[in-house]
Amino acid sequence: MKYGHFDDNAREYVITRPDTPLPWINYLGCESFFGLISNTAGGYSFFKDARLRRLTRYRYNNAPYDMGGRYIYLRDNADGKFWSPSWMPVRSALDEYTCRHGMGYTIIRSVSRQIEAETRYFVPMGENLEIWELTLTNKREQAADISVFSAVEFCLWDAWDDSTNFQRNFSTGQVELVDEVIYHKTEYRERRDHFAYFACSEKLTGFDTQREDFLGAYRGWDSPAVVEAGESSNSVAHGWQPIGSQHVKVQLKAGESKKIIFILGYHENRKDAKFDPPGSQTINKKTVKLIIDKYLQPKIVEAAFIALRNYWTELLGKLRVNTPDMHTNRMVNIWNAYQCMITFNMSRSASYFESGIGRGMGYRDSNQDLLGFVHMIPERARERILDLAATQLKNGGAYHQYQPLTKRGNNDVGSGFNDDPAWLVLAVAAYLKETGDWTILDMPVQYENEIGSETPLYEHLQCSLQYTLDRLGPNDLPLIGRADWNDCLNLNCFSDTPGQSFQTTTNKDGKVAESVFIAGLFVLAAKEMVEIAKHRHDADETKKMQNAALRMEETVWKSGWDGEWFRRAYDDFGHVLGSKENKEGQIFIEPQGICIWAGLGVEDGRAQKALDSVAKYLATPHGIVLQQPAFSKYYLHLGEISSYPPGYKENAGIFCHTNPWIMIAETKIGRGDQAFDYYTRINPSKREEISDLHKCEPYVYPQMIAGKDAPTHGEAKNSWLSGTAAMNYVAITQAILGIQPQYDGLAINPVIPSGWQGFEVVRQFRGVRYEVSVRRKGPGNTVLLVMGGEPVSGTVIPIPARNVKTLKVTAFIG
Ligand code: GLC
Ligand code: GLC
Repeated sequence: MKYGHFDDNAREYVITRPDTPLPWINYLGCESFFGLISNTAGGYSFFKDARLRRLTRYRYNNAPYDMGGRYIYLRDNADGKFWSPSWMPVRSALDEYTCRHGMGYTIIRSVSRQIEAETRYFVPMGENLEIWELTLTNKREQAADISVFSAVEFCLWDAWDDSTNFQRNFSTGQVELVDEVIYHKTEYRERRDHFAYFACSEKLTGFDTQREDFLGAYRGWDSPAVVEAGESSNSVAHGWQPIGSQHVKVQLKAGESKKIIFILGYHENRKDAKFDPPGSQTINKKTVKLIIDKYLQPKIVEAAFIALRNYWTELLGKLRVNTPDMHTNRMVNIWNAYQCMITFNMSRSASYFESGIGRGMGYRDSNQDLLGFVHMIPERARERILDLAATQLKNGGAYHQYQPLTKRGNNDVGSGFNDDPAWLVLAVAAYLKETGDWTILDMPVQYENEIGSETPLYEHLQCSLQYTLDRLGPNDLPLIGRADWNDCLNLNCFSDTPGQSFQTTTNKDGKVAESVFIAGLFVLAAKEMVEIAKHRHDADETKKMQNAALRMEETVWKSGWDGEWFRRAYDDFGHVLGSKENKEGQIFIEPQGICIWAGLGVEDGRAQKALDSVAKYLATPHGIVLQQPAFSKYYLHLGEISSYPPGYKENAGIFCHTNPWIMIAETKIGRGDQAFDYYTRINPSKREEISDLHKCEPYVYPQMIAGKDAPTHGEAKNSWLSGTAAMNYVAITQAILGIQPQYDGLAINPVIPSGWQGFEVVRQFRGVRYEVSVRRKGPGNTVLLVMGGEPVSGTVIPIPARNVKTLKVTAFIG
C-alpha cells in the first residue's frame, strides 16, 4: 500500500493522505539555518546546532506523534468553524490534501470548505530564516471572510535545558513587539547576542506571544481558544512559554487568491551593538530590519525559491545516470544524493529519531557521510575534513563526537572507539580522488583544537593508522576498544548495572578483545595511504604501509578466517566471535563486507565463499541481517548488541549501512546480479509499494529494517540520518555502475546485472563534463574504453587538455 507517489520531473515525493504510518519528514535549509518539517507541518528549526541554538520547540515521543510545528489555522468567520490546512494539529477532515517534499522545500496544499490553502516552506540560500508562503484561494461562488492564525512555540535556545530546567526557564522568557514583528529575545539581556523573529507581510488584526493566552487553560494545539473565538488576546510573554502567533483577516471574493508571507528567522548582533538606543534593553534592529523587509516581498520570495531550485539542479547535475531501472535512476539522481547532503549536514543529530540534544557530529559518521557528498560541494568537504582532523587526539585517536557549534570534541562520550581514526584516511582519500587538490595534505591542523599543536594533515593521517598499529592484541589483530563500527559490540564493558552507558562504561583493561573488522578497515585505509604516500614521493611511508597492510592480511588469514567466512572478533576471554564455534552470533556481516572491499580473498575464491555464506545465512527478501543466529539473551561480555530483542538494531536487524559493503564486495568478485539484487532489496523507492509494512519514508534510507527474527520483519525505523545514505551512494555509483573517481582520473569499471544492455552517465569531474555511454558486448565485466573512435588502454579516462570541457566516452563491457 502507498501513501503517495514520486514526481521525478519535479524531484518531489507527493504524499496524498496526511495519516502516513509515521510522520514523513523533510529538511529545510542546507547551510546554517535548518528545519525539520513533517507532512503535517510538524517539526522545528535551529541555527547550526540542534541542541544549542534551537529556535522552536518540538515534543518528541508524543501522542499523537507529531506535536509542535509551523502551524497555520484557518477560521471561517461566517460560522466560526476552524481547521488546520496541514491536517495537524486540528485534524478535521480535508477535502483535498497533498504534501510535496522537494529538495529543501515542502509544499502542503489542501482544500476544506472550498478554501484552498497552499503553504510553501523553504529557507532561502544564504539566509538564516525560513519562509512560509501561504496562498489562499476562495473556490466558492460567494465571498469568504477568513481569519488566518499562525503559531510557533519558541524554544529557549538550549534544547536540553529547555526541556528540563523549568524552575529557571519559566521566569526568563522575553519578547518584544515592534512594527508588528514578534522578537523572541530570551537571555538577550545577558550573554546572548542573538534573537529570533517572526514577521508577517500583512497588517495584523492581533497577535499572541504567551502560550496559555493563545491556547486557553488546559487546551492543546488542536483547539486554541483564540482561534475558536476568532480573536487574538494580544498577550505579551513574561516568562512561561513565549510563542509567536499572528492574526490576519482576509476577505476573498469568489475565485480570488491572496498570498501571505510569514518569516521566522535568527539574527545575531555585534556584541557592542546589541541595544538601540545603546544602554537600553531594546534589541538593535537596524540590520535585521533590512532582511525582514526584503523577504516580506512576494517577488523576492519567488526569486529565492527559484534560486533554491537552481542550486539543486546544479548539485544533482554533478552525477546523473540513466539505467534500465527506474528505482536506481530516481535514487541516484535525486533522493540518495539529497539524503547525502542531509547526513553531511546533520550527522546523527536531528531527525524524528534523533532528538538533536544527545549527539553532536560523529567522527566515524561524518567521515563516512562525506563519501557520498564530496562530489557535490568539495569545498565544504574540505572544511569538514579539517574540522574533524582538528579534534584528533595526539595519540592518533579521535573524539567519537564533536559539537558543530564549538567544533570541540565531546568529553562525555570521549574516545576509544578504535575504528574511528581510520575513517579519516578514507575521507581524505575520497576528497583527493574527487578534486586532485593535494594541497590539503599540507594544511596545518591542530590536535584537540590546541593552539600550537599544528602539524600538516598528512601527519594526522599517518597518526591515524599508527593508532591501530600501536594497539594490537594477543592475535596481532587490532584491539577493539569501546567498540568498532558496531557501537553495540562492547567487549570491554561488562555492565550489569541498569542505565549505564554501554559505550562509555569499560570495566576491562582492553588489552585482549580484538576486532577483525578493524583489521579489514585498516587494510583498506593502509592501501589508500600507500597511494597517497607514493604521490608525495614518501618512500618510507609507502614501504611502511605496504608492509603493514600485508602483515595485517596475513594476520586475518591466520586468526580471522573461519573456513567459510571471516570471523568477527575475539572477546575479553580470548574466545572467538562470529565463528561456527559459537552458538549464537556465528556469522556477522561487517567483516565479510570490509575485508573483501579491502581486497582479501578476491583472487583465491575465499571472498566468494564468504559471500556465499552471507547469501545462505544472512540474506532476506528485505535486506541482509547483521548476524545470525541472533542473541537470545543478554551476554555480559558482549554488551549492547545482546540488549536488543532478536531481529532489531545490531542484534540481527537489517542494519542497512552494512548492506552496501556486501554490494561492493560482490562487485569485487564480479557478481553484478547479486550486487544489484541486494541494492534493490533495501532501495526505498522499490519498497514504496509496501509502505504500510515499511512505515518510514519511501524516499530515503532508514538505519534499520527489522530482521527475520523480529515479529515485525520488514518494518523500518530511524529514517534519514544513517551512514546508509553515503554507503549506498558509493555502492551503486562507484561499485555497481563503476563511475570511480581515482587519484589520476575518472575510471569506468561497471559490474552491472547481466540483463542490462548498458546505461548512460553524465559526470562532472574536475571541471570537465564526462558523458559516458556503457554498452554490453558480452556477459563479463571487462572494459574497453573508446574515445573519438579510438580505443583507450586501461579503465581510467585520461585527463583531457585544459581547454576541453566535455568528453564523450563509450565503455564496452563483456
Ligand atoms: C549508528 C551509529 C554509527 C554506528 C552504527 C552501528 O548508525 O551512528 O556510528 O557505526 O550505528 O552501531
Ligand atoms: C546507541 C544505540 C545504538 C547506536 C549507538 C550509536 O547505543 O542503541 O544502536 O548504534 O547508540 O552510538
